[in-house]
Amino acid sequence: MPFKILEKKELVPTIHLMEISAPQIANKAMPGQFIMLRIDEPGERIPLTIADFDREKGTITMIFQAVGKTTMKLSNLETGDELLDLIGPLGNPAHIEKFGTVVMVGGGVGVAPVFPQARAFTEAGNKVISIIGARSSNLLLWEDRMREVSDHIHITTDDGTKGHHGFVTDIVKKILEDKTAVDRVVAIGPPVMMRAVAGVTRPFNVKTIVSLNSIMVDGTGMCGACRVLVGNETKFACVDGPEFDAHLVDFTLLMNRLAMYQPEEKVALEKYKCDREGCIC
Ligand code: FAD
Ligand code: FES
Ligand code: MG
Repeated sequence: MPFKILEKKELVPTIHLMEISAPQIANKAMPGQFIMLRIDEPGERIPLTIADFDREKGTITMIFQAVGKTTMKLSNLETGDELLDLIGPLGNPAHIEKFGTVVMVGGGVGVAPVFPQARAFTEAGNKVISIIGARSSNLLLWEDRMREVSDHIHITTDDGTKGHHGFVTDIVKKILEDKTAVDRVVAIGPPVMMRAVAGVTRPFNVKTIVSLNSIMVDGTGMCGACRVLVGNETKFACVDGPEFDAHLVDFTLLMNRLAMYQPEEKVALEKYKCDREGCIC
């Protein structure tokens, strides 16, 4: 069954929003879950987090960054186009309950998966302090939506063009040093950011959850591509996660595995661009 794109737009340079008609997935989706999609028959499957869902409209929304061949091809689709297949919702829903004060940290495109969780933590009666960061102000995502679902929001930019000049970890550290009672931290973004957040919260002994973006092929526990090391145990991020205790994750192994196919990914992207732009190399 093809899945129709109801809305597609570029939110900030290289980051796109896509709303898709998928009533069965929308009906079951929970914060923290993801889908696997394939654009067309020869295409590879890629995982994307469900950034929002509307059960009444029967739609799910994904926010993705065009980083390689498949996400670039996806970014070149338009409203009205169709995806060949979409499976989900996959992965375990985020653990939402009334903890007290929850700090939500989103970096770059990671702000999108943080959003439905921040909303759910607020609905569950928590005080939500959100920290969202980007390299520069023009790359900041969903500040307005995050503001709506947070009690307090902090902005950081690496170049100082908006909010705090520095990293999300600076604010996490300040909040904890100020002796704010924090019951849980949830961090989603590039692995290097999640590792840094884990490093900041560990000495304060604050439970910290990260969502791991390991390479996934089937997304249902069969291929082993997504294996990660958590507390010295091998886990499959697609079925055991994607959320894990940040203080137990081997981030070095995660990052090494994410870089495993970079030469092939580079060739695939160059070939895609050549085919699309008609180069003669
Ligand atoms: P490529 O050039 O093929 O790869 C670029 C880099 O992306 C690689 O070096 C590798 O680190 C990673 N990657 C490649 N293939 C995969 C794969 N099959 N699975 C996972 N990572 C891969 N990105 C978003 O922008 N928005 C999201 O909401 C989002 N949610 C995710 C949820 C989960 C559970 C996971 C595991 C990943 C998520 N990602 C998300 C990452 C996204 O899947 C990759 O950026 C995408 O697969 C890259 O594909 P590509 O062909 O465009 O790039
Ligand atoms: Fe295949 Fe997780 S993606 S086992
Ligand atoms: Mg790819």
